[in-house]
Amino acid sequence: MKSLRPIRIFDTTLRDGEQSPGASMNLTEKMEVAQALVQLGVDVIEAGFPIASPGDFASVSEIAASVRGAIICGLARCNDADIDRAWEALRLAERARIHVFLATSSIHREFKLRMSEDEVTARAVAGVKRARNLCADVEFSPEDAARTDLPFLCRVVEAVIDAGATTVNIPDTVGYATPQQMFRVIQGLRTGVRGIDRAVISVHCHDDLGLAVANSLAAVEAGAGQVECTINGLGERAGNCSLEEVVMALRTRSDYYGCDTRIVTQKLVPTSRLVATITGIQVPRNKAIVGRNAFAHEAGIHQDGMLKDRSTYEIMRPEDVGLERTDLVLGKHSGRAALADRAKALGYQLSTEQLQTLFDRFKVLADRKKEIYDGDIAALCEDQFSALPEQFTFAGYTLSSASGHAPTVELRVLQNGVPHTAAVTAGDGPIDGIFLAIEKLTGIQTVCRDFRVQAVTVGKDAQAEVTVELEHAGQVQRGRGVSTDSLEASAKAFLAATNRLALGGQPRIHPQRA
Ligand code: KIV
Ligand code: ZN
Repeated sequence: MKSLRPIRIFDTTLRDGEQSPGASMNLTEKMEVAQALVQLGVDVIEAGFPIASPGDFASVSEIAASVRGAIICGLARCNDADIDRAWEALRLAERARIHVFLATSSIHREFKLRMSEDEVTARAVAGVKRARNLCADVEFSPEDAARTDLPFLCRVVEAVIDAGATTVNIPDTVGYATPQQMFRVIQGLRTGVRGIDRAVISVHCHDDLGLAVANSLAAVEAGAGQVECTINGLGERAGNCSLEEVVMALRTRSDYYGCDTRIVTQKLVPTSRLVATITGIQVPRNKAIVGRNAFAHEAGIHQDGMLKDRSTYEIMRPEDVGLERTDLVLGKHSGRAALADRAKALGYQLSTEQLQTLFDRFKVLADRKKEIYDGDIAALCEDQFSALPEQFTFAGYTLSSASGHAPTVELRVLQNGVPHTAAVTAGDGPIDGIFLAIEKLTGIQTVCRDFRVQAVTVGKDAQAEVTVELEHAGQVQRGRGVSTDSLEASAKAFLAATNRLALGGQPRIHPQRA
């Protein structure tokens, strides 16, 4: 059998993914995601943009100092201060990479940079040289490459390779490219740049037209050796190329692409769930690979075909992406060992302490709900992963409500362990009343930008999962709450987001908008 060409997976969930509003993560959460990415087998982790804020610097430094098994990369604009700061954060990494970028398209040059082609080339060369003096592994990105004239793009790429860039990344910054165009750009670089073989060609696509995965695959077909992507396709605006989709396309269609990655695909679903839980950005049910319905064969005709031969309707096996087929249901009488087994099979590695907490919460849930499904166990496990220091913890509510009348709510929370109560008679209904009571109690006034409820599993007694997005003083935070009581789940979600707002965010520089 012909050997498969290895494609490097460069994950930018912690940088481009985290740049999207409401997806910000704290240091503990970034560390959890970085460790999960190593287990997943990514080649490069872009850990952040170190000059953005002291918090961003601290998280890139911490990841560089303690995460082993992948290249740790930091982003820098093409100037001395950014490049030096990136290196300062990365210097303890087992293997470090500095990622320098500068826009090259005429639109960006004229309206953003006000620089000529020659000035951009000179600045790019100077930046790469400075980075190479600090670090042996340097990536250069001509921002908005997909809208850059090919002859000028070739000129810049050739110059940065001569200056020492070891990877040249071709971003479709605004998600404008089409697959054929992307193919031609990569092909054009491979034929038009002297010395192109001295660097790895990478691709970085945004999903504004829903083409990020298709464009990345077209680049691979044309010879790119690295794909930049994010878990669940998180990222600016419509997001980046989705890691799970591009990886499974390359794996499932290795007959066509002749390529493969080092990704341990059985970790895709657990990693997707971890990132969804931490960011509060849920994956749509019909999302390819990791959506809840991705492997549900419900229509009768499909089931009939499936029973005869799985290959009639199934091109990947759920177990290959980390979804176990199971009809096993746990309940009140299930023991700790059965629960530990299910949690492990679902991909959650829990410490003895976490397992004990999980078991205690499982027992409470089993008293409220007869049958406990995998979805319920996953929801309980995810709460373990997302445990953050909480200033305000939900302790209970009493509520009376009737249509056409403002509800009366008494809300109880623990503030740093001390009980507090707030009472209101206000709001358009029970949920609004609970939110107003929380605002009164915490003193943090917010604008609710998003509120969603979904059932974790099937049945009338299913747990409700609520996610909210709140804005306060220019900061946006998300929160999630799960309970068999949807009002309790709403209160928990609102408090989770309020806790994040209470921690406060530092002002950050946005790499591309500064
Ligand atoms: O989309 C983009 O152009 C980027 C660069 C910083 C690589 O994210
Ligand atoms: Zn980007």
